[in-house]
This record gives sequence, structure tokens and C-alpha cells, in this order.
Amino acid sequence: MNEDAGHRKDGSRVVLRVVVGLLTAAALSACGGEPAPSAEMVERGRQAFAPCSTCHAVSPGEMSGLGPNLHGVYGRQAGSEEGFAYSPELASSGIVWRKGALDDFIASPSRTVQGTSMIYAGEPDPAVREAIIAYLQSLQ
Ligand code: HEC
Repeated sequence: MNEDAGHRKDGSRVVLRVVVGLLTAAALSACGGEPAPSAEMVERGRQAFAPCSTCHAVSPGEMSGLGPNLHGVYGRQAGSEEGFAYSPELASSGIVWRKGALDDFIASPSRTVQGTSMIYAGEPDPAVREAIIAYLQSLQ
């Protein structure tokens, strides 16, 4: 008798988990299917961004250095920061900055966009790139 009740409880817990799973999936697809990165990942990325910040500002409207301001860059068309003199190669690349494109570009800017004026050798560690991308994603 008690055992049966226990089974029934487990059963409803499974159902609950499925419902929660479906709701989560629905919530994710509502925001384009991309979960927001964890705060921890963003913080790791903020630290890994140090070498990038010699050229890139990240606060809205802040004067940037050699590179364009990266506030809101995630999901943006490449070469679209108003007033920045991009290389024609990047400006006409047709890239939209999401995970895959950013991962390629940060791994090797010159291989991803031949002729780019971003003079940066590239970040070889995929985990570091993932954190940097999470940080860029948080700059909205
Ligand atoms: C030496 C300066 C310099 C450094 C260091 C640098 N960048 Fe850049 N970055 C640039 C320049 C210049 C451009 C514009 C390139 C072009 O027009 O071809 C650019 C472009 C970009 C773009 C495209 C922006 C857009 O509006 O399309 C992204 C994204 C980016 N950089 C990310 C990074 C990240 C992440 C790092 C660090 C891992 C980094 N950059 C390091 C100078 C730099």
C-alpha cells in the first residue's frame, strides 16, 4: 500500500519534470533558442576580454580605441557600428555576429575575414573563446 503510493508519487514527479522541461524549451525558443550565458561564464569572459579592451570599448557611446565599440555586437551585422572606419572586407562580409562566426573570428581574425584590419593573432583555447563570446552576448 505504502509502496504503491510511493510509486505514484515518483510517477507524478516524472510528469512534472517533463512539463518543466517543455516550459523551459518553450521559453528558450521564445528568445531565439539561445539561453543566456551564466553569470559565472560572463565574468570569466570579462576577464579574458582584457587584451581585447586595449582596442575595444564596451560601454554604449564610449569612444573606442583602434577597434569599434562592441556594445550590442552580439546578433549585429558585421561592420555596422556607426562612424567606425571598417575594412571593406569586414564591412562587406555579410557576417552576423553569433556564436559560430564569433568563435571563428576570435580564433583567427585574418583567416576568417581576409584583409581585416583587426590585428590580433587569435585566441587558440576554445574554452576561453566561449567565455569571451558569453561576455559579448551580455553586452546588450
Ligand atoms: C589591436 C587592436 C584590436 C585588438 C587587440 C582586438 N581587436 Fe577586435 N577589432 C579591431 C579592429 C580594427 C576591428 C575592425 C576590423 C575590420 O574592419 O576589418 C575589430 C573588429 C572586431 C569585431 C567585429 C565588430 C563589428 O562591428 O563588426 C569583433 C566582434 C571583435 N573585433 C572582437 C574582438 C575580441 C573579442 C578581441 C579580443 C579577443 C579583439 N577584438 C581584439 C581591433 C582589435
